[in-house]
Amino acid sequence: MSNPQETINRLREEIRGHNHRYYVLNEPSISDYEYDRLMQQLIELEKRHPEFAAPDSPSVRVGGEPLDRFPPVEHAVPMLSLENTYAPDEVEAFEERVRKQLETGTVEYVTELKFDGIAVSLVYEDGLLARGATRGDGVTGDDITPNLKTIRSIPLRLTGEGDLPRNVEVRGEVYMPGKGFSRLNRQQEKAGEKVFANPRNATAGSLKLLDPRKTAARPLEFSAYFLRVTDGGTLADYSVTTHFDALHLLRRLGLPVSRHVTLARSVWDVLDFCNVWEEKRDSLPYEIDGVVIKVNDLEQQEILGRTAKSPRWAIAYKFKPKQARTTLKEIHLQVGRMGTITPVAVLEPVFLAGSTISRATLHNEEEIKRKDIRIGDTVTIEKGGDVIPKVVGVVLKQRPESAEPFRFPDSCPVCQSRLMRAEGEVAIRCENLACPAQVFGRLLHFSSRGAMDIEGLGESLVQALVDEKMVHDIGDIYSLRADDLKDLERMGEKSAANLVASINESRSRQLGRVVFGLGIRHVGKGAAAILAGTFGSMDALAAASREQLEEIDQIGPVMAESIVQFFSQPSNRTVIEKLRKAGVTMEGEIHALGGGVFAGKTFVLTGTLSRMTREGATLLIEKEGGRVSSTVSKKTDLLLVGANPGSKYRKAVELKVKIIDEDTFVSMLEKARKILFPKDSQLEMEI
Ligand code: IVH
Repeated sequence: MSNPQETINRLREEIRGHNHRYYVLNEPSISDYEYDRLMQQLIELEKRHPEFAAPDSPSVRVGGEPLDRFPPVEHAVPMLSLENTYAPDEVEAFEERVRKQLETGTVEYVTELKFDGIAVSLVYEDGLLARGATRGDGVTGDDITPNLKTIRSIPLRLTGEGDLPRNVEVRGEVYMPGKGFSRLNRQQEKAGEKVFANPRNATAGSLKLLDPRKTAARPLEFSAYFLRVTDGGTLADYSVTTHFDALHLLRRLGLPVSRHVTLARSVWDVLDFCNVWEEKRDSLPYEIDGVVIKVNDLEQQEILGRTAKSPRWAIAYKFKPKQARTTLKEIHLQVGRMGTITPVAVLEPVFLAGSTISRATLHNEEEIKRKDIRIGDTVTIEKGGDVIPKVVGVVLKQRPESAEPFRFPDSCPVCQSRLMRAEGEVAIRCENLACPAQVFGRLLHFSSRGAMDIEGLGESLVQALVDEKMVHDIGDIYSLRADDLKDLERMGEKSAANLVASINESRSRQLGRVVFGLGIRHVGKGAAAILAGTFGSMDALAAASREQLEEIDQIGPVMAESIVQFFSQPSNRTVIEKLRKAGVTMEGEIHALGGGVFAGKTFVLTGTLSRMTREGATLLIEKEGGRVSSTVSKKTDLLLVGANPGSKYRKAVELKVKIIDEDTFVSMLEKARKILFPKDSQLEMEI
């Protein structure tokens, strides 16, 4: 019987060797079956001898215990992003800029593939993988060490002998090769789980799983492209003075580095690399979305420095989106949650960039007209950075003789009510409060915080009410009985009673909230409050003419038109009558038109206020006739500053804008209203 520790060590070494040959050298030496057997043997032995556990045992790859969350980690050096270019002349401009700033004639570049995956940072301490994190916002990422440890091409321990750094940070891209991606999606579909739109999303989803054992089963790979020494030394201590040297050192440390990296000695070499790979991208077993161009010399990189977001020594050259041609079979109108109608192209299925496409967006009626897209046409579709493909044009030569210009229907495909087109706007809407396609969205909006604020009536409950056909429009909410509610899933007698109580309470919300809750296109919270304050009742508002509405300071022609159209729909009047019968507020207080201490004044807010929220301050300003804008300009009259103001403060000082603090603001209001707010109290901001 051999010594178990020796056997464990031997197995570990053997598996490490296979991993390295498979993942780094791309030269597999045994079958998957044999590999799994070695791993099983190791796991068995380690279980029997927990005293020999080791953080860098290859068995760690199978994944440890599930986590409840990923702790945040701050990156010692921010993880920047890259500036994008889309055309050769932009690459040339970059190259010129670099030469000018360095004041030299020639500069060497390294050209690399731009992997379409997720950037991660790996920190090695004393040669062992200590921590791995996502990029996050560049400053703080998520600590996903247990998940990254399951990726076999990421070494748990640095390799190499002699004078090599042992404390380093490595950055690179985690990605999912196309084959693995297709296999994963087949499995997901079979298991009734969600399928991923592209390998990048699948990678992101896999790294975010809280159970590392699940991540272990995902076919993820890693490619390194950045190295930093972390123990106070520098790369120069290891004779590394260029990015190219750094990539070589990464390889010696056991990290996988792409084989498709070249040294370019001129902008022509750089553009060559870009062209070659734009042509050949489909021959790679994984997806790339461009090429990364980096100044080779590390000292030169230092001189060039960085902007707030990206280094000045590197850029990305992004490939043109992939296109395909297919036939447009039909144009289907989709009704959005709040009634916006989007035309969707129904296509003869076609394979493009890793997936089969049978639908694409057509954006709006204008777009169809402008491009004269007709049913039966051969169209060019494109998959850009977004997941949803779009129709970019028509192949006129292939237009069938019978193809007629597309006539956009006048009525909603779901409820048949007349569709609304506001002047000067491309969006077409179904404004029917009772349209079945919109019940969910409209209910959710009506019960939301800023509107009727019905506690407990959130997404899942609204969905259940719609599914059970217990409500057909917002008016039906008020006839719900606790008796009917209690039988819904996850509802008991108590929560049913609570919900009915909060529904009842909402009947007395102020008129401005009711108006906002109707979800009239363009009418936000502030505008709703102004409308309520100007007309004093729902009936007066409903009877208002375009001209009357436009007379109000903050109401423009687009909003006026939208309000008139909304109230002209008989079905909307019916829903409002339902609300009235249910005892929902239909009357309010009239505020003096055009008055208020802040009449005609434009405010900008910055920093944190202590006695009110920003939203609250906005409402107070609007109630007093002022308006709030998000940017400081010469037109700004007042800047209201709270604690820790941002760059708006500096800008205001520069432009000599009047600056007031919260106390001054409150006392202005107090004077205007001839009241005193209780000291240090939170100001109530009912609209
Ligand atoms: S270098 C400061 N090299 O592209 C240097 N990035 O848009 C930043 N990426 O967040 C990274 N392949 O996720 C670099 N060979 C490569 C890359 C690469 C893919 C990604 C990376 C980064 C993003 C920047």
